[in-house]
Amino acid sequence: MTRQTPTPQENPFGPARQVPLVGIARETQELQQPLIDALVQVVRSGRFVLGPVVEQLEREIAQLVGVKHAVGCASGSDALLLALMALDVGPGDEVIVPSYTFFATASAPWRLGARVVFADIEPEGYTLDVDDVARRITPRTKAIIPVHLFGQCADMVRLRQLAQEHRLHLIEDAAQAIGAAMEGAGAGSLGTAGCFSFYPTKNLGGLGDGGMITTDDAHLAQRLRLFRLHGMQPRYHHSVVGINSRLDALQAAALLVKLRRLPHWTARRQENAARYRQLFQQYGLTDWVRLPVTLRGRTHVWNQYVIRVPAEHRDALRAHLAQCGVSTEIYYPVPLHQQPCFASLAAGRLPETERAARETIALPAFAHLEPEEQQYVVQSIAQYVELHSRGKAEAAA
Ligand SMILES: Cc1ncc(COP(=O)(O)O)c(C=O)c1O
Repeated sequence: MTRQTPTPQENPFGPARQVPLVGIARETQELQQPLIDALVQVVRSGRFVLGPVVEQLEREIAQLVGVKHAVGCASGSDALLLALMALDVGPGDEVIVPSYTFFATASAPWRLGARVVFADIEPEGYTLDVDDVARRITPRTKAIIPVHLFGQCADMVRLRQLAQEHRLHLIEDAAQAIGAAMEGAGAGSLGTAGCFSFYPTKNLGGLGDGGMITTDDAHLAQRLRLFRLHGMQPRYHHSVVGINSRLDALQAAALLVKLRRLPHWTARRQENAARYRQLFQQYGLTDWVRLPVTLRGRTHVWNQYVIRVPAEHRDALRAHLAQCGVSTEIYYPVPLHQQPCFASLAAGRLPETERAARETIALPAFAHLEPEEQQYVVQSIAQYVELHSRGKAEAAA
């Protein structure tokens, strides 16, 4: 194994170099004037909540995802909540979710009084292990929420078969996966409903919170529109108890500007993933680092580039990278089934989930990342590995 390991002096940017984990500042910089122009137009229009700009975004997202309807709401978390509310999920129902995900995937069914059933993940793509899901289905199961984690779809082909067989709803948590696809069909078009987040770190991020639900089902879309507006139709008449979860025109206007750049930015993320692979190979690190893969039939949009390293080194590597000025993140250090708030579920062990929580670390991979920055990230990891193996050799001598 040939390692080209730089000393700190050889690092092309010196120790003061900072590589952020996400590229929000650079994204906003690229589009600063068009964003300001779009916001000014909304200010002048006087329509700030829902309205024509939100409707335009809903049409464009529906087209991008490949569905008939899209319903804007206040966040990705609310998108999940609204989808479950509109499908009448509540007490007495069970909802199967991964534990290796962001909190909102499980808090939405929990808040509605449904029983949250955690299933394990498969180790390559970090998405639901379909065999484990199948084992956890009971007569009370009403829905499954597969999460297209890090920008890659769960195995929707097998999950759809399972859902059809047991007459279950499939609610895709596509918060991290706008533009991803499976067998050519867009994330968010593969189940009963798809839930998206426009939180600024997402591939399509707004200037604040925002979310959307996609579906082909006209009746469901109409119920989603009802539930996001306090169940009010007509004005001050309430047939169901909904919530207040609407998308702002200011967010929609900013998102429409950014949407034009999404295909290009996605391509840049995909190039970055390919470049990391080359760099890790070039530095002889592929025995030590397990690289993420694109699974069969999937289009990966790389919201996160997550590697695995030996568990005993993960936190020390992260500290070393921080010293080098490289920002990283752990998605997710404590799986949901081990969170104190879900202790009453007594979910038991989920071995692959727990292993992933110990071994994974997300590296910068955003669209505006420069090739030299990527090289610096990999060099910095090589430096850690070199220091560590030297340390081991000295200890053995
Ligand atoms: C997998 C997943 N689900 C749901 C959400 C919730 O989205 P939001 O932050 O817009 O509420 C997020 C993002 O934070 C997410 O990553």
